[in-house]
Amino acid sequence: MCGIIGYIGSKDAVPILAQGLKNLEYRGYDSAGIVTIYKGKLATAKCKGRIADLKSLLKKKVLRGNVGLGHTRWATHGVPSVVNAHPHLDCSGKISVVHNGIIENFQDLKENLKKQGCKIKSQTDTEVAAHLISKLYKGNLEAAVRGAVKKIKGSFALGVISSDEPGKIVAARRDSPLVVGLGSGENFIASDVAAILNYTKQVIYLEDNQMAVITKDSVNMLDMRGNKVNKDINTISYRQEDVQKRGFSHFMAKEIHEQPQVLSRIISCCVSRQNTIRFKDFNLDSSFLKKVENIIIIACGTAYHAGLVGKYIMESFLRIPTSVDYGSEFRYRKPVIRKNSLVIAISQSGETADTLAGVREAKKSKVRVLSICNVLGSSLTRESDSVIYTHAGPEISVASTKAYTAQIMTLYFLGLYLANLRNSLSKSYINGAIASLKKVPTKQREILQNSSAIKAIAKKHLHFGAFLYLGRNINFPTALEGALKLKEISYIPAEGYAAGEMKHGPIALIDEYRAVVCIANNSFVFDKMVSNIQETLARKGKIIAIATQGNKQLREYLKEIIFIPPIEEEFSPLLTIIPLQLLAYYIAVLKGYDVDKPRNLAKSVTVE
Ligand code: AGP
Repeated sequence: MCGIIGYIGSKDAVPILAQGLKNLEYRGYDSAGIVTIYKGKLATAKCKGRIADLKSLLKKKVLRGNVGLGHTRWATHGVPSVVNAHPHLDCSGKISVVHNGIIENFQDLKENLKKQGCKIKSQTDTEVAAHLISKLYKGNLEAAVRGAVKKIKGSFALGVISSDEPGKIVAARRDSPLVVGLGSGENFIASDVAAILNYTKQVIYLEDNQMAVITKDSVNMLDMRGNKVNKDINTISYRQEDVQKRGFSHFMAKEIHEQPQVLSRIISCCVSRQNTIRFKDFNLDSSFLKKVENIIIIACGTAYHAGLVGKYIMESFLRIPTSVDYGSEFRYRKPVIRKNSLVIAISQSGETADTLAGVREAKKSKVRVLSICNVLGSSLTRESDSVIYTHAGPEISVASTKAYTAQIMTLYFLGLYLANLRNSLSKSYINGAIASLKKVPTKQREILQNSSAIKAIAKKHLHFGAFLYLGRNINFPTALEGALKLKEISYIPAEGYAAGEMKHGPIALIDEYRAVVCIANNSFVFDKMVSNIQETLARKGKIIAIATQGNKQLREYLKEIIFIPPIEEEFSPLLTIIPLQLLAYYIAVLKGYDVDKPRNLAKSVTVE
């Protein structure tokens, strides 16, 4: 995923573009560049590395002009390098393009363009778009862009400028997010509102196969035939400071510590004063929901782990079969989808290509899709029959934390809502569950106040070459998520396993060089976890246990224990994950890694 920003107005474009890219850096950060138009010419500055490197370059290579484009890259085609960094130019040097997405037929297009005499300089797919637009340019930039995107297969969010038409920016979108920001005497394009929140909260979301032609005083939204389309103007609710660290060393630390307030917000959104559960703009009718016989959850990464917790929730509360699939598997598996199925798609960004593709595959069977998503107006929300927003605020750190517990809390409320509708749970259980969930934010705060003890444990274990995370029942997904958190920011091999599976293979891994994280909170399977702990100790495994306050038994044979407040087992995933998020965070920080922008990763994977 890459970051795109464009500016046209009366101000100097470069400071606006550079700051916008800084706010987008979480989307991709292996190279970056800016192009402006000044005195009828394009001027470009590009570099390998971070936005800080680009800012240093811009001190030496000063670009002038009131219109320009900026891009920060997560490489798909071609290594991170200056020549592969965006923006890309056509041969004439008059047309410049920034792009997020993948041009799947770029090789064919490239061969064709080379036969027409184009000199292709980079290894990227994007440069092909610049030459294609140039070949089709007959004095109208938006017409040339329209012609070019019709020849392009794949996904794109494009920003295009031309020195022959310096008063406009043309944008086009298919499968990769793009918004237009509306200012006074200035307008913007961006791949994410975080880039432009300093300047405007009024945005228009482009839909797939739509274009925008913006000048400093006008915005025209067009379809791919060039016809004007009317679009709603959305007002962004969160503030620029929501995308700042606010005193924390990293966004990940801030977002871990935001979880109690996020869950409190969800509780206030989902639970009425009469203690009933409701969702804003929820338009799946009760008659359909009462008939649902089967739930299919589609998600990726951390959202997939939340989906696995959702399986336990839905099967326990509703007693109907619930499957959970990676989007990347579901889309190609030729899935069997029975009638009266409900698909639940879970995604923080709402732009994950595999999840979107899974949903599109499911919709071929005419099933209803409910999405649980954190980003207003994202692609997934527009392709779903109904949406429940998680209200977690912008999640900037690549490692997902507050979105995870927000998704799980939302799944609890959805499960209770459906159970009430279908009379599969008693009113007293439902009221008791709501009461327990209302206590979770306070209990999370209690764990967060114990961060220094968790940091001390991290310090003792950061040299281990590999970690194994073990969990059972509704905390098996917690083990998977804890392992993902560690591996993606500390690069230490870590795997999550159902503890009951230890004897079927993983126990061979145990020795004094392996750290084993055991999720052993109070549970009906606690004694089984104790057996796993004993088996691990017998083979000199180094154990870090998550246990419930008051548990004295584990203290008899374990030293490294992180306690969580007592909570009913069915709600414990909202607590057991907190120590694991902090453990991963501290290990990565102590190892000196860039926690918020881990190598090879991007915040939202909008390509296959
Ligand atoms: C989680 O820490 C990762 N950043 C990644 O696995 C992420 O959860 C996955 O890409 C799904 O993203 P989404 O929730 O935006 O769809």
